[in-house]
Amino acid sequence: MELIKTSNELTQRLTFEKKNGKLIGFVPTMGALHEGHLSLVEQAGKECDTVVVSIFVNPTQFNDPKDLERYPRDLDTDMTLLADTSCELVFAPSVEEVYPQTDERVFEFGQLDEVMEGEHRPGHFNGVAQVVSRLFDMVKPDKAFFGQKDFQQLAIVRDMVRQLNFGTEVVACPIIREPDGLAMSSRNRLLTQKHRKSAPLIAKTLSESCNFVQSKSVADTKKFVTDAINADENLKLEYFEIVDGQTLQAVDSWSESNYIVGCIAVFAGDIRLIDNVVYKFA
Ligand code: PAF
Repeated sequence: MELIKTSNELTQRLTFEKKNGKLIGFVPTMGALHEGHLSLVEQAGKECDTVVVSIFVNPTQFNDPKDLERYPRDLDTDMTLLADTSCELVFAPSVEEVYPQTDERVFEFGQLDEVMEGEHRPGHFNGVAQVVSRLFDMVKPDKAFFGQKDFQQLAIVRDMVRQLNFGTEVVACPIIREPDGLAMSSRNRLLTQKHRKSAPLIAKTLSESCNFVQSKSVADTKKFVTDAINADENLKLEYFEIVDGQTLQAVDSWSESNYIVGCIAVFAGDIRLIDNVVYKFA
C-alpha cells in the first residue's frame, strides 16, 4: 500500500494502472476510519482491480467551525487499518492540494438539499459536491463507494455525477452498526460515556418504528420516534422525516411511494448523529 499526497503523483500512478486496463475503485473518506469505511473498501476490492482511499477532512463541508476543529484526525491509525484491506493507494492531500484556489462553485440540487441535512447544515452539501467533484477529477474512478448512513449525501453525489457528466458509477453500501445497533460514525468516538450509552436508542427506535408501517399512520410513526428519542434526557431530536427515497420529499401516507425512508438527526450532548431506516422498498 502506498501513501500519496499530491495530485501529480496520484495522476502518474493511476495513469499507469489505467493503461494496464485496471478498473479503479474509489472510497472517499475524512479519515478516523471505522468498520463502516472498511466495509466500503472491502466492497470496492470485490468490484474493482485497484482501490484508492482518500483521507481528507474537507473544510468546505463544515458549517460549524467547532465541528471541523474537533473532527478526529489520526492518519497513522488509519494507515494501519487500511494495511489489512484491499486498498492499494491512500491519497491524503493537503487543503492547498485539493483547493489551489478557493472553490467558488455553487451547485444547484433543487429540493434535494432544501430538506433535512440541507436545511439544518446550510452549505454542507455544496461543500460535499465541491470536494467529491475535485477528488473525482483527480482519481477518475470507474466506481465510487458511499455508505447509506449518509442517505441524503448519496442522493446529492448521484445528482452531482449526473450534472457534471462523470462516468463514475456510484455504489451504495449498507450501514454498518456497533453490536448495540448504533450506526458507525467517526463522531461516535467523541461521545461522552453517558451519551454513548444513550445513543443506541436511536437505532432501536427506528427499528421498532418499522412495525408501524402495517398498522399506524406516518404521523403516528413520527410522533412515536420523536417522543421516544426526546424521552431520553441525553438525546435531543433535531429532525425526523419520513421521505420518498428518491426525491427526499416528505410523504404523508405509506401509499404515496414505493420507496420510503425515515431519516433522523439527533444531538447526543453536542455531538450530532444521523441514521436512517428503509420502511418500504419495492
Ligand atoms: O461522507 C464523508 O465522509 C464525506 O462527506 C466525504 C464523502 C468523504 C466528502 O468529504
